[in-house]
Amino acid sequence: MNHLLKLLDLSKEEIVDLLNLADQLKYETKHGIKHTPLKGMTLGMIFQKASTRTRVSFETGMYQLGGHALMLSSSDLQIGRGEPVQDTARVLSRYLDGIMIRTFEQKEVEDLAKYGSIPIINGLTDFCHPCQVLADLMTIREHKSVLEGLKMCYIGDGNNMANSLIVGGLKVGMEVAVATPDAYRPDPIVLDFAKEYGDKFTLTSDIFAAAKDADVIFTDVWASMGQEGEATERRKDFEGYQVNEELLAVAKPGCMVQHCLPAHRGEEITEETFEKHANEIFDEAENRLHAQKAVLVKLLKK
Ligand code: CP
Ligand code: NVA
Repeated sequence: MNHLLKLLDLSKEEIVDLLNLADQLKYETKHGIKHTPLKGMTLGMIFQKASTRTRVSFETGMYQLGGHALMLSSSDLQIGRGEPVQDTARVLSRYLDGIMIRTFEQKEVEDLAKYGSIPIINGLTDFCHPCQVLADLMTIREHKSVLEGLKMCYIGDGNNMANSLIVGGLKVGMEVAVATPDAYRPDPIVLDFAKEYGDKFTLTSDIFAAAKDADVIFTDVWASMGQEGEATERRKDFEGYQVNEELLAVAKPGCMVQHCLPAHRGEEITEETFEKHANEIFDEAENRLHAQKAVLVKLLKK
């Protein structure tokens, strides 16, 4: 593993290895055991979109591992004024030990990896959110002890989260059921990938069919970053695609609810359901830190 660009690039073994290391690093952090395998190393963090969790968890993670993180807002970089990604990649490779990037196009992340010579980590694109889904799988395993054989359900927009959950869930042996409106299906590349898993994957527009007997239900915002202008239209298109108590009633008893956050209560999830599952949702947010530390150690440690 040289980069983390998308979960499609990882084998099941690589994903499970990361989850195991994340569990170990979480245990060590909780027990005050300090390891600084990234001493003297610097991670550049390029943000072309807003962030709370990704920014803070990567910066804290690097610090806890003995390294340093540098916030590079695209509006301050020459990349924001048109310097090509090929040049930015080659320059930053001379200073840094790794780059985490949050941007719009997946191609930009792939190009950084192609032209640079240091590990690149995808901190969210319009196509996928691999760091989030590693934290999600870690959280499910923490609460349910296993992943294999569980049913994951995703309700809402066929966006970056849906794409990564489908790939991550299927790769680790989960059954994955997705409900989206017809016009908001996941990416065709992901649907092609999912075909290989036969009846372990289902795509429907019926939220109750998708949630039936689920062990964990995910949702995400109806309008992602960059789609703010479509918010009103999307509110209409996604009406009914909500995680609430009525939906939970058809899932397995003890079904978890996960949300990558930020959440829009009253849209994709009700206040009541969110608060009932707040503990699981904030465990998920915490696990961003531990899962990403595992990614940093795997990719950066010499
Ligand atoms: N879930 C997530 O990536 O959060 P941020 O946008 O706050 O980084
Ligand atoms: N789908 C959301 C996820 C935010 C973490 C977005 O892209 O804005």
